[in-house]
Amino acid sequence: MSAPDIAHRAAELRALLQRHAHSYYVLDTPAIPDAEYDRLYQELEAIEAAQPALRTPDSPTQRVIGAVLDGFVPVRHAVAMLSIRTETDTEASGAIAFDARVRRELALTDTDPPVEYAAELKFDGLAMNLRYEQGLLVQAATRGDGETGEDVTQNIRTIAQIPRRLRGVEVEVLEVRGEVYIRRDDFEALNERQRELIAQGAKNEKTFVNPRNAAAGAVRQLDPAIAARRPLSFFAYGLGEVRGWGADNAALPATHSALLDALAAMGLPVCDERAVVPGADGLVAFHAAVGAKRDALPFDIDGVVYKVNDRALQQRLGFVTREPRWAVAHKYPAQEQMTRLLGIDIQVGRTGKLTPVAKLEPVFVGGTTVSNATLHNEDEVRRRDVRVGDTVIVRRAGDVIPQVVGVVHEAAPAADAASRGEPFDLYQRLGGQCPVCGSPIAREEGEVDWRCTGGLTCPAQRKEAILHFAGRRAMDVEGLGDKLVDQLVDAGLIRTLPELYTLGLAKLSALERMGEKSAANLLAGLAASRHTTLPRFLFALGIRHVGETTAKDLARHFGSIDRLMDATEAQLLEVKDVGPVVAHSVRSFFDQPHHREIVEQLRAAGITWEEGSGTQPVGIAGVAGLTFVLTGTLPTMSRDAARDLIEAAGGKVAGSVSKKTHFVVAGTEAGSKLDKAQELGVPVLDEAALLALLGAGAAPANDPPAEPT
Ligand code: IVH
Repeated sequence: MSAPDIAHRAAELRALLQRHAHSYYVLDTPAIPDAEYDRLYQELEAIEAAQPALRTPDSPTQRVIGAVLDGFVPVRHAVAMLSIRTETDTEASGAIAFDARVRRELALTDTDPPVEYAAELKFDGLAMNLRYEQGLLVQAATRGDGETGEDVTQNIRTIAQIPRRLRGVEVEVLEVRGEVYIRRDDFEALNERQRELIAQGAKNEKTFVNPRNAAAGAVRQLDPAIAARRPLSFFAYGLGEVRGWGADNAALPATHSALLDALAAMGLPVCDERAVVPGADGLVAFHAAVGAKRDALPFDIDGVVYKVNDRALQQRLGFVTREPRWAVAHKYPAQEQMTRLLGIDIQVGRTGKLTPVAKLEPVFVGGTTVSNATLHNEDEVRRRDVRVGDTVIVRRAGDVIPQVVGVVHEAAPAADAASRGEPFDLYQRLGGQCPVCGSPIAREEGEVDWRCTGGLTCPAQRKEAILHFAGRRAMDVEGLGDKLVDQLVDAGLIRTLPELYTLGLAKLSALERMGEKSAANLLAGLAASRHTTLPRFLFALGIRHVGETTAKDLARHFGSIDRLMDATEAQLLEVKDVGPVVAHSVRSFFDQPHHREIVEQLRAAGITWEEGSGTQPVGIAGVAGLTFVLTGTLPTMSRDAARDLIEAAGGKVAGSVSKKTHFVVAGTEAGSKLDKAQELGVPVLDEAALLALLGAGAAPANDPPAEPT
């Protein structure tokens, strides 16, 4: 670059950085990822280092940015709140370089023992100064520009974790410094709530880009009532002004680690994830160990911090400009990056929810390469005005799925604005149909998400539907958990709920890791689930908005599934506690022929229930009322013996297989009866399954369950 070009670039970078710093520190809404900000900053630093004449006093490299917002009372810090030098090198060399600098400053030679360090996490929130006088919290202030911050005492008082009074302390003035942050789970829940508020038409609500911005926004919220609703947390990591911790502060712990222990003993939250380690090797090991568990931490960190542990040594090392020589931050790969949005797909979730998914130019973020990220829902896409071709910010933190959190509008040259993609319209994109099963999609009043109405028949929803159906409070199929459902569906053994009851031992034993015993147990569990109650059966169908209580109300009112299936919305509204949402949901469920078919197929598979409200489940039904056909040679007993057992338990044994047969019991060399059973979809048991079924208990003789209607 020519000299004028370089000067021009430096000016451009100063202006850019100033603008982004304002968005970040003052408005709490960053327009670019931190990693991008760092890149621009480093570019400017490099230019200024090469040509010091270009270093202007107002350059962002020359000052701590941060301003006091209107509406807050400025607080002059008794001891300046400094920042620490950052090792942007995310490899081990960052730690080695720091240790080498410390040893050089302390004039240590190779024969001197390793320096002891306190290693801790670099929390990604905002710095806070808590001032305690005689153990009482009197003031909380943000860092601001390091000299002057904002008084945010009212908001900080809403954080339950921060003690109003320190335990067992008689220190005249104790300023505790630390980080206010939001846990990832709290952040996700907060944004989910925000999305709902927005969908319901709330005007002044927004979702937050990341936990740090949400925390910063909450702390600098003028209305403490709003701050109180934000799930803020705090970790202490250091001190500001201290007076009277013993005469001449003589009681102040001698090491940083002991200081943190003392703060914890006073009732302040201190992160347990810290260690005292020797020398560069210890730092490298800590950096690697924390890096390995970074995703599993409940909150965001952007690195670790190393501090010389001995406070006397810290004093000897002192400060250079605005940074202590005794501490350094050592980073990890950024959790937010910019990339291009190549397209938007729509995914069908386990509950039928339709989620727009961003197809991205692959980008390395949060330690992995990401090419898909969630866009949450249609409203979110429109509100952020995300369009195909845009440069977007992708966030991947912890094991939360990657998400698009914003668009970098500055990155699109004005000329491109006209050529941007169309605004996103989910319904139009799908032509109103589920991309997996083709059923109509729908979005209910006041709901954020579009959904597939295919329910039980949509392959995307199969696993969830089966798990729900088999659940303890529904059909209560013992032995059918999520792993097994995954296996059954993935192996193509079950596509619809009624097919559960056509499983035979042979099919099941073919599954990996499925022993004969567990297969027999599952078959017994399935057999035992056949007789149930109407409310359980209704609940098991997984009709949206029909929970257990509603299922009972509906069963009590209509008394039979047929009357319920034929009920109009008006008739449904006559049911106690049933409102328009439930009535509409039930009606549209049974309006779909495939749902009625499933009910018929379940009946054909031998599912029976007590009609009416029957809230008392019969439980293990035994085999009373069920018809069996025996075929082939059973391993341990004759067919006659099997017949006696079935009849003793109240069942019937027939000679040929028909639609009315509930089970075929097959041994080896079973012939045409087995074929017929398979043709008609009659469930097949082996001897073990039969015994398990019989052993599961006989039905009460005086209370035979109803025949399938
Ligand atoms: S010590 C004089 N320890 O990182 C040393 N800072 O530039 C003061 N931070 O905004 C900082 N975790 O809020 C320290 N364990 C930790 C930290 C930490 C996060 C933040 C701090 C400041 C920045 C340092």
